[in-house]
Amino acid sequence: MIICSCNVIRESDILAVLSPEIESAEALYACLGCTIKCGKCTAYVEQELISNCSRRQQ
Ligand code: FES
Repeated sequence: MIICSCNVIRESDILAVLSPEIESAEALYACLGCTIKCGKCTAYVEQELISNCSRRQQ
């Protein structure tokens, strides 16, 4: 499933680079070699970052 149509980023791309060092959507996109453009996808990305952080704390 494509999450970011501006950069053609799939959910699997996002999940592949999630790590404790990535604390923002901007940082995550930088890891993927792109930048946020329209911003419509950032809510999903931010939620993934929060979920990833929560899983690490359990
Ligand atoms: S959909 Fe991701 S920046 Fe536009």
